[in-house]
Amino acid sequence: MAKIMPTTVAPMPPVDGLPIERSDPFDPPAVLAALREERPISRLRYPDGSLGWLVTSYPLARAVLADPRFSRRRELQRAPRRIAFEEEHPGPSEPGFFIGMDPPEHTRYRRQLTSHFTVRRMRELEDRIARITAEHLDAMERHGSPADLVAEFALPIPSLVICELLGVPYTDREKFQHDTRVLLHLESTFEEAMGALVSLRQYLHGLVVRKRAEPADDLISTLISGGALDDEEIAGIAVLLLIAGHETTANMLGLGTFALLRHPDQLAALRADPLLVENAVEELLRYLTIVHIGPTRAALEDVELGGEVVRAGEVVTLSLPAANRDPERFEDPEELDLRRSATGHLAFGHGIHQCLGQQLARIEMRTGFNALFSRFPNLRLAVEPEDVQLRTDMAIYGVHSLPVAW
Ligand code: HEM
Repeated sequence: MAKIMPTTVAPMPPVDGLPIERSDPFDPPAVLAALREERPISRLRYPDGSLGWLVTSYPLARAVLADPRFSRRRELQRAPRRIAFEEEHPGPSEPGFFIGMDPPEHTRYRRQLTSHFTVRRMRELEDRIARITAEHLDAMERHGSPADLVAEFALPIPSLVICELLGVPYTDREKFQHDTRVLLHLESTFEEAMGALVSLRQYLHGLVVRKRAEPADDLISTLISGGALDDEEIAGIAVLLLIAGHETTANMLGLGTFALLRHPDQLAALRADPLLVENAVEELLRYLTIVHIGPTRAALEDVELGGEVVRAGEVVTLSLPAANRDPERFEDPEELDLRRSATGHLAFGHGIHQCLGQQLARIEMRTGFNALFSRFPNLRLAVEPEDVQLRTDMAIYGVHSLPVAW
């Protein structure tokens, strides 16, 4: 096979760690836009000192995510900036934690789950999600104005939904919400993050053992009776689904509400036409792209990408927020325009690891936004916008709290 030769381009100093500091709550760091324009694949210095790549354009990010020559195996990745739960030299993924695996292991796990997350299966949950949403809005009304939208609405709804789906007692929420917070906090020490992960794993393993003895009508029990997976594997899947299932959607609901309150013309359009919500949710996903660190992929062989050669073993970080603001793919990408077609955005990733829970997240958001804005026609921020606490210190971006009044 012919050896791939790099094209000659002027050397540019590597970016030192993935930039995540923002000057606007809704816009990705400006430096990412500059990189996308000048050099959509740039050298990136990882915190462990290794040299890899940072991809900021839509076509290159999508190409990497679809390319089997780029691996998701955990032990090959490097964190693009310090993340508490990422070791400098990580070991292989724990059983069941399939987001850190390649085929055929990844396929074996994912195959057990896809039928439980189809559009049809998620539609069946719609009524239940609508009821859960209404109950939380009732509680928020009883609480009275002002209230913290994250505590009353954005966090509990996806938490309760994923608990019911998995069969995790919601009464244990303080435990798993706390562990998840510690795990995803960029300021946690490695020991703290690992402690939280081990504690989540033990908790869910105990639950799997109990359900083996006393099955119920839930996903964990179904996986047990399927017979293809052992308790360790099911516990690993449950950890992944529990973390991914509540933190992400919660932040889209919180940050999405903040964004709509700051774009009154867009909010008015949504209020005037609740059917717009399907489109609006895709646009909010694109515009806000809360997965702001990573994902990463490691090259399994030398690969030519955008005029550069990524050498075997080098790690590539895909900036999803930058890719989703690529003017080559989306017209006026800096505008929040609920009427545009934002389909094809990368907020849920792309390729074989594309978000398993995306249909569930969509239903939670469509139901959540419409119910919230119809229940509280005068919903407004209860603090100055500058005082909203942003999650630049977390692995998933969003708002820590959102004080609202009505
Ligand atoms: C708005 C909410 C959400 C966003 C923005 C989001 C985003 C993402 C992204 C970007 C990935 C791909 C990561 C990669 O390629 O390395 C992913 C994967 C994943 N997500 Fe989500 N997610 C959301 C909600 C959910 C929910 C509700 C669940 C669970 C019910 C979930 C479960 C998963 C799982 C299991 C994976 C790994 C899939 C695999 O490796 O095959 N996510 N998500």
